[in-house]
Formats: sequence, structure tokens, C-alpha cells
Amino acid sequence: MAKILIADDDPTILSLLNKILLSKRHDVQLAEHGGVAEKLLKSEQFDLLISDIKMEPVDGMQLLKNTRKLRPHVGVIMLTAYATVSTAVEAMKEGAFDYIPKPFKIDELLETVKRALDYQKSIAEQISGSSHIEAKKYFGNIVAESDGMVNVCEMIKRVAPTKTTIMITGDSGTGKELVAEALHSFSARSEGPFIPVNCAALPETLIESELFGHVKGAFTGANTNKEGLFEASQGGTLFLDEINSIPHPLQSKLLRAIQNKKIRKVGGTDEFAVDVRIVAASNQNLEMLVKEGTFREDLFYRLSVITIDIPPLKQRPEDILPLAQHFISQEMEGSEFPVMDNAVLAILQNYVWPGNVRELQNVIQHCMTFMRDGKISKETLPSKLIVSYEENPGAQNAALTGEFGKGKSLKAFLRAKEKEYLKNVINTMGGDKVKAAQELDISLATLYRKLPEEKGS
Ligand SMILES: Nc1ncnc2c1ncn2[C@@H]1O[C@H](COP(=O)(O)OP(=O)(O)OP(=O)(O)O)[C@@H](O)[C@H]1O
Ligand SMILES: [Mg+2]
Repeated sequence: MAKILIADDDPTILSLLNKILLSKRHDVQLAEHGGVAEKLLKSEQFDLLISDIKMEPVDGMQLLKNTRKLRPHVGVIMLTAYATVSTAVEAMKEGAFDYIPKPFKIDELLETVKRALDYQKSIAEQISGSSHIEAKKYFGNIVAESDGMVNVCEMIKRVAPTKTTIMITGDSGTGKELVAEALHSFSARSEGPFIPVNCAALPETLIESELFGHVKGAFTGANTNKEGLFEASQGGTLFLDEINSIPHPLQSKLLRAIQNKKIRKVGGTDEFAVDVRIVAASNQNLEMLVKEGTFREDLFYRLSVITIDIPPLKQRPEDILPLAQHFISQEMEGSEFPVMDNAVLAILQNYVWPGNVRELQNVIQHCMTFMRDGKISKETLPSKLIVSYEENPGAQNAALTGEFGKGKSLKAFLRAKEKEYLKNVINTMGGDKVKAAQELDISLATLYRKLPEEKGS
């Protein structure tokens, strides 16, 4: 069942269409001209609009244009007398799905309605991801479609409930903190605190007292006793991010704290027990640092009892669109899910993402700010993505994209061949696309869909 709006100034047509569509159990609303239809479109959600072209005072073309702006997801079918077929073709250039000449056969009408609804549905699925690109989420918020990321999530599930220290590695922006949070929330300590600390952001002189606390008078300025981050994480998880920047002298103290589960405050004499799970992350190769002598080998082994390595985004292109969709949903403020051009999908898929998931998140935020009429088009994207695509289209992920890229998949090959054939037929018909569509035994809408570049010509 779909919700269909019909606009026509001819009451007999209105009631006929009403009857036909009701018999197919659609939910139908009637409007006697474009203005009435527009009001209804503003206040209600429809799947499809069937509109006459000639109407007073607001005609079908105007209604079509306004609908594209107001509700870009709504499919539009134009009704037209034979005399106005050329206008109907115009309408398709404006984004109508197809047209039905009057008088029409009921079968034909129902067939076109069905095709329009199927098409709308597939578009909606593509962009709102209700089917094939639906973001598979783990722990409520980790999008994982690629094998690489699914493995990471399986690993989290397995090791989160254990007591071991866990090391997370991955390039900047790959989701290390998100994984650390998941490790915490999937552990028996989930009721306790999760405290992230960026070791690189703490000045060397303060880092010890930040981590372990200090007693009053331990150094100039230590006017009171201070609780450290270890103590604050009691019963929970302490996430030591960028652990590679812990100064060498402090590394042994950290090792002792982890091994003995006891700490001593700066300036203090007593040791006291802390029950804290340590999760650490590094965006530098710690093994290399061990070799260079800047990171203690014993601490390295202690920390990396279990290591979770998050692959860079360019190695898991299957995650790109589901992540984009996930970030769009986060940014939406009660508005409709935006329509995303295929060109945009191709560009997102093609980019190498040096800044990984965080960069993708920023790009989506940019798009949501600059998009127009609920549509994310190529122009909405930051220019660096377009430049990179134009310089090297189909480069990065071609082999894996199939659908969108210009890779070597069979699908891509068949598509290219199909295009070639369609263009040949159009040429044989002297550029007349209506005739070409007839010759090909497909609708004009289908022809335009397969050759979107012909639409504007
Ligand atoms: N698989 C994912 N699913 C959903 N959101 C993700 C995923 N991976 C990363 N993010 C989001 O991307 C952003 C960056 O992730 P995060 O801060 O965890 O990365 P990081 O590896 O810690 O980065 P940095 O090295 O810069 O500290 C966050 O907003 C995070 O929620
Ligand atoms: Mg981080």
C-alpha cells in the first residue's frame, strides 16, 4: 500500500483514478488543482503524485517543480492529453518519473504506478539504507559492514568481558576511542566510570600527578591532596590514548601500577590498591618505538596482551556508504533523509580518506550544512574530494565498488555495453529519445535513468 496524491481539474478523472487505486488498496487523496495538492504535500507524506499538466490556477509543471523542492523523494507521474506529449517530456527533464497519455488503459496506468513505486522504494532503500546498505551496527553505534570491521567487533565481544589489558592500534580517526568505549560498555564494569585521557595532551611535568594524584605539599602549588585519574577510574576503565607519548621515566611506574594494581600518589608514602581496567591506544607503531628505545619493552608486552588493530578506511570501502548514512542520521534534525546523487556516492567511494572515519564524518557535516532542497549533490561536497575524483576517477576502490566505480566487475562491463547500445539506438533515431525508447521497448523514464547525461540534452 502506498500513499498517492492525485491532482486533476477534471472530476471524472479524479474519481476514476481514485476508484482504480483504491481497488489496489492504496491510500488516495484528491486535489482539484496544483495549489490544493501543494498544501497537502506540505502537511502530509506521500509516496507518489499523479498530476495533470493543464490545470488552473496552479498547473502541473509548477506543481512538479514545487514538489521536487518540497518533497524530493516523492515520485511524480504526469497525466497528459496526446497533444501535450512534448510538455510531458519537458516534465521528465524536470524530474517526473514518467507520463501517462490520456485516455489511458487501466492496466497501463497500474503498471506505470507500480514501476514508479518500485523505483521510489529502491531509491529510498539506497539512501536511507533500509536494505542492502543498511548499516550493521554493533554495540548500538559501531558501523561495521566490512569483514575487517566485523572482525574488530567480534574481537570486542570476546575480550571485553575479560580482565586483560587491551591495546588498540589504528591510524588517526579510525575509531579507537569508539572501540575503547565499546570495550568498557560490554564489560562487567559498564556501571563504573569510563575515563579517556590523551597522554599527548598532558604536559610532561604534570602527567604523573594527573595519572596517580598527589599529596598536599608534594610540589610547589600542590595545596591540597589530589585524586589522580587511576583513582577516578576505580571500578571502571581508564583509556590511555596516545600512550606512546608517556615519558620514559614514567613508563616503569605505569608498568608497576598495571602489574601490581597498586599506585602511590606523587609525594605520598603509602601504596593503595586500585581496581582499574586499562585500555591503551597508539597511533604510532609501538614496536618500532621499542626498537628505537623510546618505549619500554616490558610495558609494551604488558599492554599488548591483546591487540585490536583497526584497519584504515581505505582498506574497508564497504563501510564508507553505511558510515555516511549513519552520520547523516545523526545530523538530521527531524527533517527528511536527504537524497544523495549517484555521483556523490561514487566520489565518496573513490576517495582515499587520509583522515579516516573522522574525515568522513566532517564531510557529511559539511554536506548537511550546504545541501539544498534536501539534496546532496556533487556541488555540496568539499572541493578536495571532487578534485581527487577528477584527477583519478575510479582509482582507489574500483575493484571493490562494482556498482558505483568503473571497476572490472561484470556488472560494470554490462552497464558500459548497455550504455553504448542505448546511445547507438538514439543516434539511429536521429536523436529522438521518445522514438528510441519505443524502439527499445522501454519507457522514456527508464531510458533517462540508464543515461542520465541525456536528460539535460
Ligand atoms: N565504525 C564506526 N561507526 C560509527 N562511527 C564511527 C566508527 N568509527 C569511527 N566513528 C566515529 O568517527 C569519529 C572518530 O573516531 P574516534 O575518535 O574513535 O577515532 P580515533 O581513532 O580515536 O581518532 P584519533 O586518532 O584522531 O584520536 C568519532 O566521532 C566516532 O564516533
Ligand atoms: Mg582518539
